[in-house]
Amino acid sequence: MSAAREEGGLHAPAHASHGSSAHAHGGTHTPIFSGERRKQLDELLARYPNKMAGLLPALWMAQEAEGWVSEGAMAEIAGLLELTPAYVKGVVTFYTMYHQHPVGRHFIQVCTTSPCGVCGAEDVVKSFLKHTGCGELGVTSNDGKYTVIEVECLGACGFATPIMINQDFIESVTPERVPEILGKLK
Ligand code: FES
Repeated sequence: MSAAREEGGLHAPAHASHGSSAHAHGGTHTPIFSGERRKQLDELLARYPNKMAGLLPALWMAQEAEGWVSEGAMAEIAGLLELTPAYVKGVVTFYTMYHQHPVGRHFIQVCTTSPCGVCGAEDVVKSFLKHTGCGELGVTSNDGKYTVIEVECLGACGFATPIMINQDFIESVTPERVPEILGKLK
């Protein structure tokens, strides 16, 4: 779980991109945990001593389903786990790994903390912003494919510049490698 520098404080993406983005802020929420997914959740909860302990994985499931964790998803999970929506929201806003707004299909995190910064991380960021078409940090590209953010140390300071694209870790990224890296993404 990386320390996103300010995901919550970044610009809200201009373009919703993921799955059920129609469930966006304030819209009608279609239940996520029905059918097979509800069954998976019930099986998962059975492995924990209480429902509250299953909150983090339940949030992951919601994010996998919709690409982010909407207010509706938080309320749904709160109901299922017998928690208050405020508690669930507190957890979502604490962990930067949960997206509080729709993001691109490829969520790109670039370490720009000082050790990587002096090795040119800012130029890597600029290259991603240019080649993804995002233009700005935290803004999703028009095609819904990409969102780029800066994060704090990813724990690979000797391999500047490290990045993460969703769950994949890539080290020694240079501005020149960016088109090749993006070219491998579907
Ligand atoms: S400062 Fe960039 S990985 Fe540690």
